Amino acid sequence: MAEPKENVLMEKIVSLCKRRGFVFQSSEIYGGINGFWDYGPLGAELKRNVKETWWNTMIRQREDVAGLEATIIMSPKIWEASGHVSTFSDPMIDCKTCKGRFRADQTDEIPCPQKPSKCVNECHGEKTAPRAFNLMFQTYVGPVQDDSAVAYLRPETAQAIFAQFKNVMETSRQKVPFGIAQIGKAFRNEVTPRNYTFRSREFEQMELEFFIKPDEAIEAIHGSVATVPPTGHPGEPQPNWGWQAWHQYWVEERVRYYEGIGLSRQTLGFHIQTPEELAHYARATVDILYKFPFSKRDEKGELKGEELEGIAARSDFDLSQHARFSGKPMGVFDEELRGAWGKLPKEKQDDLWRRYYENRKKYLEKSGVETELASKQATEDANGLAKGQYIPHVIEPSAGVDRLILALIANAYTEETKTDDKGKSETTVVMKFHPRVAPIKVAVLPLLKNKPELVAKAREVYDLVRTQMNSFYDDAGSIGRRYARQDEAGTPYCVTIDFETLGEKPELLNTVTIRHRDDGKQERLPIGDLAAWLLARVR
Ligand code: GLY
Repeated sequence: MAEPKENVLMEKIVSLCKRRGFVFQSSEIYGGINGFWDYGPLGAELKRNVKETWWNTMIRQREDVAGLEATIIMSPKIWEASGHVSTFSDPMIDCKTCKGRFRADQTDEIPCPQKPSKCVNECHGEKTAPRAFNLMFQTYVGPVQDDSAVAYLRPETAQAIFAQFKNVMETSRQKVPFGIAQIGKAFRNEVTPRNYTFRSREFEQMELEFFIKPDEAIEAIHGSVATVPPTGHPGEPQPNWGWQAWHQYWVEERVRYYEGIGLSRQTLGFHIQTPEELAHYARATVDILYKFPFSKRDEKGELKGEELEGIAARSDFDLSQHARFSGKPMGVFDEELRGAWGKLPKEKQDDLWRRYYENRKKYLEKSGVETELASKQATEDANGLAKGQYIPHVIEPSAGVDRLILALIANAYTEETKTDDKGKSETTVVMKFHPRVAPIKVAVLPLLKNKPELVAKAREVYDLVRTQMNSFYDDAGSIGRRYARQDEAGTPYCVTIDFETLGEKPELLNTVTIRHRDDGKQERLPIGDLAAWLLARVR
């Protein structure tokens, strides 16, 4: 675990994650394996909750997105079409002195393996020239290990969505604009995994590919493409939105999602990728950042943040590539476009035809198709547009689950110091997770464990709530210690069963105390109302 010693907060977070069972080093009993992490009982619940909130927000609460669960190993042709075989690499250099292997663009930050306290630039060893290192993990399918059996662990979930575009569209009876979303593992053989779980070799993605009409089709149907203010949420989707409005819409939708699980706007940052930074498929990308304790600071001393999610406008690159490589059509027929085109003045038709032709030709030439063939193909594509056919464009919000888990953990981590009557102070950790993602929603605690009536009632309450949400029963130690343990786990509500629950004061019979994690306030509620009260707050 290569955490800089000076990052005290990060060290405390890493220590808490291990001590409380959020995150463990993979294969720890064998010394670990660099770039791989396991989630313990609390981490596994947190992760499930995060994925559930994403799936609900992106698919179940929308009418225009369908889900997919594809395999990790797919035809290797997919990765040729996507460009990953030829371009998915990092520049790698070796140090001839310390024998370390580094990313050429990160040498100033990486500890030298021989002198971990020093950075590689202090080592001053002679470096090799940078070499491209493909990040895909390679394996073989079947018993024969030759070139024809080579396959890859997917480096992103996105490509399965493109490959299954037609099947999903037909079976879900969707029409463009619509999206396909998927959550799943992805693998990248990072040269230097770092920053705890932030950059791992095995990780999970939550990706949406949202398919839209090309701007030329929008203009043909609606007369013009809507312009939206350059910042802020553009509102409910409109039929005349082009790629820029959709791109902005998804950036803002995603920010709302993060706010909804407890990451306020102040904890987030934004980065608009420069042309040099854009991936080979992207026309524009906005990164949503989280300000981690290990993030670099700007000239004003503010944390800059690291990427949680990239929202890329991928044009029609992906479906076009799969159409070319598979020989299967990836276009759609749009009745509205066909009808509208026939009613356009000739000059408008010519203008749109020409623009679509130029865009298609540019794409084809960039993808290595020789000029004459590219012109012929682009002519066919533009003729297709005039008949209502096009290859959809794509906006892709692509989020990393593990990065988000780390952001939520860092965001929740709070130290509180209390001083008792005798002046003795104690600092405890409270994990202030949003109740929606908190691993344990409610802990049920009998006031005393040696009173069978209290225990029986507490077990009854526990049985009532555990069928509805992840709950925890604890009768060990003083009530104060039990609260403290739940604070460290991030449990938003503790329910205590005391003598009043049993009817010591008749008017309080069958009521319980609910203690709120963040301010310690307590209130009483009838047991009959408890499940509904909790569900309204944790969902
Ligand atoms: N699909 C985009 C990414 O994996 O970064």
